[in-house]
Amino acid sequence: MESPNSGEEFRPAQDQGVEEVFLSRSDPGRRIHKHLQEKLEQRRCQLWVGLGLLLTAAALALLTGLLVWHFHLRRDVKVKKVYIGSMGITDQTFTAEHEDPSSNQFRSLADLVKKQLKLIYNENSVLARYFTNSTVQTFSPGDEEPDGVVAYYESEFQLPAPQAAALDEAIASLEAAAGSQRSGRLILKPSDALSMRGVSSAALDPRLTQNSVSENKPIDVHVSRNGSISSPGFPDTPYPPNTFQRWRLRADPRHRVRLDFHTLTLEDDQCQKDFIRIYDSLVPIEPRLLTEQCGYPQGSLSFVSSGNVMLVVLVTNKDKNFPGFRAFYSQIPAADGECGGTLSGDRGTFSSPLFPANYPPKAHCTWKIQVPKEKFVKVQFRKFAVGKRGTSCPDDYVEINDEKLCGDVPATAMFTTQSNEMSVSFKSDASHVYQGFTADYEAFVPSNPCPGTFKCSNNRCINPTRQCDGFNDCEDNSDEFHCKCDAMQMQCKNNLCKTKFWRCDGIDDCGDNSDEEGCVQCTAGEFSCRNGRCISDQLLCNGQDDCGDGSDESRCQKSLQLLCSDFTFRCRSGDCISKLNPECDGEEDCEDGSDESDCACGMQPFHSSQIVGGQPSREGEWPWQASLHIRGLGHVCGASVLSDRWLLTAAHCVQDENAQADQWLALLGLHAQGQTNEWTVTRKVKRIIAHQNYDHKSSDNDIALMELDSGATLNQYIWPVCLPSPTYDFPAGQEAWITGWGATMEGGTAANILQKAKVRIINGTVCVNLLQGRVTDSMLCAGILKGGVDACQGDSGGPLTVTNAAGRFFLAGVVSWGEGCALRDKPGVYTRITRFRSWIKQHSGV
Ligand code: ARG
Repeated sequence: MESPNSGEEFRPAQDQGVEEVFLSRSDPGRRIHKHLQEKLEQRRCQLWVGLGLLLTAAALALLTGLLVWHFHLRRDVKVKKVYIGSMGITDQTFTAEHEDPSSNQFRSLADLVKKQLKLIYNENSVLARYFTNSTVQTFSPGDEEPDGVVAYYESEFQLPAPQAAALDEAIASLEAAAGSQRSGRLILKPSDALSMRGVSSAALDPRLTQNSVSENKPIDVHVSRNGSISSPGFPDTPYPPNTFQRWRLRADPRHRVRLDFHTLTLEDDQCQKDFIRIYDSLVPIEPRLLTEQCGYPQGSLSFVSSGNVMLVVLVTNKDKNFPGFRAFYSQIPAADGECGGTLSGDRGTFSSPLFPANYPPKAHCTWKIQVPKEKFVKVQFRKFAVGKRGTSCPDDYVEINDEKLCGDVPATAMFTTQSNEMSVSFKSDASHVYQGFTADYEAFVPSNPCPGTFKCSNNRCINPTRQCDGFNDCEDNSDEFHCKCDAMQMQCKNNLCKTKFWRCDGIDDCGDNSDEEGCVQCTAGEFSCRNGRCISDQLLCNGQDDCGDGSDESRCQKSLQLLCSDFTFRCRSGDCISKLNPECDGEEDCEDGSDESDCACGMQPFHSSQIVGGQPSREGEWPWQASLHIRGLGHVCGASVLSDRWLLTAAHCVQDENAQADQWLALLGLHAQGQTNEWTVTRKVKRIIAHQNYDHKSSDNDIALMELDSGATLNQYIWPVCLPSPTYDFPAGQEAWITGWGATMEGGTAANILQKAKVRIINGTVCVNLLQGRVTDSMLCAGILKGGVDACQGDSGGPLTVTNAAGRFFLAGVVSWGEGCALRDKPGVYTRITRFRSWIKQHSGV
């Protein structure tokens, strides 16, 4: 930066304001208490030896004395406040020795830094009075000038507790002084002082100073060579309790540190007990905090620094230890984080820096969009996550048409100009980073914004055949207003037209639920039993089976013992109870407890709480998902783990030439195809049992069991799914998950990373209609009727799961068949597991 002899002044860099907040690090309470007691004892002795003052007078004197001492003492009570900060030094050259606290170079530069800090504090009477000492934690090479050095330090102040506010003020004035150096207020220094560029300091996070936590030696890492860091014990053992570990990552000058998490699984407790924090500094300066993570985060886990350093801190408390993390580090040229520029042409895309990684802090970019003269510009965000939600965008934002955007911006929002130019800028501040955005721009002719297409109220353009088709293609419903319903459609109360197939399918398609009204013949005030009977609402939960199938008693606080039917759960004792889906819901409903006895299943790890249109899952999120490989061919089908040696898949996966057990390999605990890791278990297959009545023409009874040649150890990456009892109810409209490595597009290629997608259970009658009668009672339909989300080739045999009240995943279906993939009105078809519960038990014992 500036000339080397600019060292006469204390000059913070312009974008590095002095940010100072104090925190009391030690509680002096216990010490005061002891002191008080000693004095009290002394005083008591004097009283006894004294000339026999009246007892009341003595008591009074004691009280008075106590009060005096108390206040006297209080004035003497000193609290300690600690700053943590960094300081750029321009006239020194960083060497390897500067990382070694025992080297002479470290010590002599640390002494200079301490002197410099003292000088700065001496400029202010309050700071000068209470300052005790500074320590230098570490150094890093300067970023902008390879010759520079950055020092990271802690400064301690001892002051009477009531002075804390004055100290805060003094710090604020220091900041002001630092900021006003241009107006001539210089801090003098002796000839051996340092030439500085920017001091930034702040309090430590209180959780980083807890006494119970044992502080490990920081780990210093040079990221010029790629590598990884991981929590202690990873991946073999959970991280240890009461850990405080820091990793200090340093890149070459003019480079950024990039950190990509491969696994991150910590206790899920809102980051109160176990957490990771990443700083854009080498010390935990709060205003440089990039992110705090805990639990099982879902967003982007790639972070990039603004300069050439980054700090990762892991803090854990005494209980609940989880697997921890592994993250890959690398360095990227600083220029890679640059962004903005001029965009021309009729259409294009632009994104926040380093998207889809989180954007770096302190980024600022402007895009100038210029389209042909006679046209206007429109911009739409495909993905938007910038800054905090629900704020006035004080931190990070995108500015477009003089409007600041932050938080979420829906993909439907459209931004247009009244000219052929548009300017979009993006700004991130020094802390808290998010994934950012990716946006599409397009030129349009003002007189005809949607040539040959339909123009939605939100300015979107859609294919005109999509108008009045019952689907909200514009996403503001404007393509579905003012329509005349055709013969295949019904009219909702809100006048929308929806296909008749969707009536009474358990899903509110109209948006006002009018497609689901009057679906049962029962009148108002009546309850419609699952067996079709109508009974008075008054009879619900009265402890009597008024429906005759128990359904009027199935969602009550108390479970009834009933005659067994298709609608009751059978306990091991043979008794049947009325409660719907009572198994593994965390409450014992059967007298013999058998509804809660086989429940080592269906938990996604660490939750305290071929897919089209899906998204990648996190490692270990679906521990019952298995991949079936044919030797030499690779992945062919999915399967579900039922126990340490049994898998469930589709019969069509193992028919004909695939019926031979020895040509299969089962991969459990797999996340990415072709990337087996420490959790992946590969097993040969000992035996395949396809359903004896599997019919390959109709796909009826499309189910098969696979026995592994040896048991796999169950752990958080390999865990069975829960099997529903024959009477388990998966009602239409319920949300369900599909997972697999199948094609992500009809006719497309298989996914590398395990995909997941959320679908809904579709009413059986509706499904039979939609799929022209090819659906049998042993099949279950699920999907999104609008299209776009479905299983596809390569997902077969994999699970369709639904969570119960306790958050456990139950296997509702096995991916079986579909008409194309993800088409409108063509839900996926699954083997209905409840129909095969006893078949599974009979052949596998599970
Ligand atoms: N039969 C396909 C397979 O072998 C699965 C088809 C599922 N299709 C669907 N649209 N849901 O992988």
